[in-house]
Amino acid sequence: MDHFQYQNRQLYCEDTPVAELAAQYGTPLYIYSQAALLEKLREIQAAFAAAEPIICYSVKANGNLSICRLMAQHGAGFDVTSKGEFQRALRAGGRTSPIVFAGVGKTDDEIEFALTNNVFLFDVESEQELHAIGAVAQRLGVKAPVALRVNPDLPPKTHVKTDTSVKGVKFGLDIETIVDVAQSVVGHPGIALVGLHMHLGSPILKVEPYRLGAEKGVTLIRQFRAQGHDIRYLNMGGGFGINYRNDEAPPARAFAEVILPAVRETGCQLILEPGRFIVGNAAILLTRVLYTKSTGGKHYIIQDGAMNDLIRPTLYGSFHRVWPVQPPENVPVEPDVNGDPDDPQPFRDMPHCFKQDVVGPVCESGDFLAKDRPLPAMKRGDLLAVFSAGAYGMAMASNYNSRLRAAEVLVTGRTHRLIRRRETFADLVACEDDCLN
Ligand code: LLP
Repeated sequence: MDHFQYQNRQLYCEDTPVAELAAQYGTPLYIYSQAALLEKLREIQAAFAAAEPIICYSVKANGNLSICRLMAQHGAGFDVTSKGEFQRALRAGGRTSPIVFAGVGKTDDEIEFALTNNVFLFDVESEQELHAIGAVAQRLGVKAPVALRVNPDLPPKTHVKTDTSVKGVKFGLDIETIVDVAQSVVGHPGIALVGLHMHLGSPILKVEPYRLGAEKGVTLIRQFRAQGHDIRYLNMGGGFGINYRNDEAPPARAFAEVILPAVRETGCQLILEPGRFIVGNAAILLTRVLYTKSTGGKHYIIQDGAMNDLIRPTLYGSFHRVWPVQPPENVPVEPDVNGDPDDPQPFRDMPHCFKQDVVGPVCESGDFLAKDRPLPAMKRGDLLAVFSAGAYGMAMASNYNSRLRAAEVLVTGRTHRLIRRRETFADLVACEDDCLN
């Protein structure tokens, strides 16, 4: 979050006052710091450097073409989960960036598209999918490069909606039967089983699950090799947590410490699929206050960002810091470092601050960005910054209530450029207009 700082009581992204961007592009507005994006990519590249990993940026976290291109330009490949994401990766990185393709429901069309567009690896999630891939590959006269995704059956480690390695979730192959599945494709003419994949969940704030997962991975790779498979890749997925509140997330090197031993032991090429780690704290969602009101003993800030722009608080109850862009003179802007570490709102227990809910215009009580946050009194027209909005923010945005999706801007120092224009009414009805009789 270092690239979003106050200077003279004004919030800046790098060297650019964010209020200036609001004036130029309107709100709600996603603002990305290029320095932040590259810093986190480099952090993960450096932490795992000993293994010379293939870093496949996870497009689902944020598929903006300019962000994906930036990733490709700085040495990343892509992790995709649909044909649409595959096409984004191709558009951003050309055919030179490695693309790994995960997901439980790949269609034949998607499989064929991937095979004819140089897919680096399929992460396979069921026995039927494995044989479907084999069949399409045989029809095309090629061999599909495949990693089996294991569900390593670890204890719960994150939000129930995003924990992908506990027993009974839809992801991956059961650890008890995956070796039999591997056996079923020994010598298969359409399948080259060359890797093992796992993605444990997201976000994960502890390194222990990776240690346990990697250890189980070593055993499986040994078993696959004993069957005759030439296993060359260990794909440990993404999921590395970030600081939404304070300093709750381990640095990349802590994850590396528990993953690298498995890489050394197997001699495999390491693949990683980080999304949130790179883009999560590289953006704010900038919104403008429409009204304030108090009712039923509660105080509301109604602003123009809503659950359709950033659904994480509504969907997961997740915490995003919300700060005024220009705090009033009587409110200090320094974070309250002595405050509650679980609620490090900088304006907590500050003079002239009181608990308020930050809500949007969408017609649902679940439409909120923050609850009970100590904030100063806000006026119509004031700007708010919602932090840590880079991952699964714009990527999960919708047109609910026929709201137009936000614009996105990429800042570098004192310069910036629009990387997605604000939608128009014509965009909104484009797929319906021609069908109107
Ligand atoms: N690889 C696979 C196979 C995945 O399913 C995911 C995320 C990733 C990599 C990237 O995970 P990351 O490094 O970004 O944590 N919408 C939720 C998160 C869903 C994650 C889905 N899979 C949220 O907003 O928290």
